[in-house]
Amino acid sequence: MQHDNYVVDDMISAKAIAARVESMAVEIRETFSDTEKLIVIGLLRGSFMFIADLVRELDLPVEVDFLETSSYGDSTESSREVRILKDLRGEIEGKDILVVEDIVDTGHTLHHVLRLLESRKPARMLVCALLDKPSRREVDVKADLVGFEIEDKFVVGYGIDYAQRNRNLPYIGAVRFIGKHPANNGITASKIVS
Ligand code: IMP
Ligand code: MG
Repeated sequence: MQHDNYVVDDMISAKAIAARVESMAVEIRETFSDTEKLIVIGLLRGSFMFIADLVRELDLPVEVDFLETSSYGDSTESSREVRILKDLRGEIEGKDILVVEDIVDTGHTLHHVLRLLESRKPARMLVCALLDKPSRREVDVKADLVGFEIEDKFVVGYGIDYAQRNRNLPYIGAVRFIGKHPANNGITASKIVS
């Protein structure tokens, strides 16, 4: 797909995503097979498609809640400052929770969110992320369950955006800039995207 100054190269097909979501759901079902209620917490906005597909594969008593943190704005670089924009509606103390994130990149977002959720004392907490970019990590944080480990590329699709665009792609693609990158003072794309 071609945009003004970038193209999206295919990376993970819709079929491969569906298969992986199904196998992740099997692991989650096993972990929480004895739960009275599992609260599935989606981190907005990037996880909305993942959480929608994941809960349909979970044959468990689930509730769904959402948490929104500040995002990258329109840049592809992390601000490293995490703020809660929208908190959970429900209580999680003594409850089983599943945290659903789209991508773990530098790790700052997940680190901050997990500290916050842990302070509310859930009974059990499992963290799953569709994508992980381990080479980008700046803080020591890990999801218990990862869909796909990917290299250091900026990705879009399946709920994930670049400047709010491309969330509706049914697959995951990598952004490749052509010409100048607007957020990097005219440094050409080849220097930014490996
Ligand atoms: P972190 O705090 O650097 O780990 O970044 C976490 C958040 O940044 C993720 O939840 C995404 O919303 C966003 N993000 C990280 N990498 C990408 C990417 O490649 N494309 C789009 N958003 C990303
Ligand atoms: Mg996110």
